[in-house]
Amino acid sequence: MSEGGTPYGLCQDAAIAVDGPKIVWVGAQHDVPPEHIGWPVEDFGARLITPALIDAHTHVVFGGNRAAEFEMRLNGASYEDIARAGGGILSTVNATRSASEETLLANALPRVDALIAEGVCTIEVKSGYGLDTETEMKMLRVARRIGEARPVRIKTTFLGAHAVPPNYVGRPDDYIREVCIPTLRTAHAEGLVDAVDGFCEGIAFTPVQIAQVFDVAKELGLPIKLHAEQLSNLGGAQLAASYGAMSADHIEYLDAEGVSAMAKAGTTAVLLPGAFYTLRETQVPPVDLLRRHQVPMALATDCNPGSSPLTSLLLTMNMGCTLFRLTPEEALAGVTRNAARALGITDAGTLAPGQRADLAIWNVNHPAELAYRVGFNPLHKRLFGGIT
Ligand code: NIG
Ligand code: FE
Repeated sequence: MSEGGTPYGLCQDAAIAVDGPKIVWVGAQHDVPPEHIGWPVEDFGARLITPALIDAHTHVVFGGNRAAEFEMRLNGASYEDIARAGGGILSTVNATRSASEETLLANALPRVDALIAEGVCTIEVKSGYGLDTETEMKMLRVARRIGEARPVRIKTTFLGAHAVPPNYVGRPDDYIREVCIPTLRTAHAEGLVDAVDGFCEGIAFTPVQIAQVFDVAKELGLPIKLHAEQLSNLGGAQLAASYGAMSADHIEYLDAEGVSAMAKAGTTAVLLPGAFYTLRETQVPPVDLLRRHQVPMALATDCNPGSSPLTSLLLTMNMGCTLFRLTPEEALAGVTRNAARALGITDAGTLAPGQRADLAIWNVNHPAELAYRVGFNPLHKRLFGGIT
């Protein structure tokens, strides 16, 4: 997946030299340098090896589920109707508040296992279903514990500005000042926060409110991401770009100004076709414009109980191609190289000396097959830091 060479950066009859958790050499078998000859060899036959997959946007830690709202939507209610009636994100907030740390972990692990089974080695996990200090901290602790319970790297994201909790309805500014920002400071002090996110939307927070959270993130030296332009265009991506955000996510309603702001800031576009599909959205993200401005595009599951109960990154790749017209090469870059970019990770997402030996070995002949199949998992083996 390194840029600028052959399609997919593909190398035929390749060898990869792995020393401990790292790749030390990659190239054609006939070029293996003498110092690596004689090392123990594992022969993967004619299989394809890619960087292990990276899911750069998930909410895998949550209580309960929202199958009842799935039924409501099928009976005519919209996602926004349900949210305004106190359902939606807030129903998950109630379930998450009342669940113990153990229960949240036990519920998250099968979702994580489904991702791992498809070759995922890095997962971003957001808070945002607590909306009070105690529960936001609990979610972030559970996220960290996933990385202890499973061979997977977890990147945590604080999403305190996800929704206005019931006791602050009509007072979003008070929530940001009294709960969200102090919680961010506490969680950061405990080492629980790798990045800061928000939901900039009519049913959530305004750009001005999000900016208050971002100012604190900046003060704390934390990188920024944003749920932007998912249901309408509030200029969230531009705001995020003005803070040098790592990513702006969803972006179905992103306009040309937003795209050029992202290009200038080096902000990655994280496309979430699972939410687009589940909500039966019709507005497609401006993929052509993103391409023209060379904004890197990532693809992620957005795994969450409401808008994207999706735990397959391979299906996400297929949806990215079928629904958003990405090429299979863009889809694979979206879950490897560009997903790493969206998380500010520089040691994974490509196969090169110095990178972590996070590898996915597939029973396919050509990388296009990964995005082409629907609901099929051709993973042969996954290496996490060189270990099976
Ligand atoms: O990424 N957009 C906001 N947050 C989530 C949805 C969360 C939910 O509905 O529970 C998302 O789609
Ligand atoms: Fe999300």
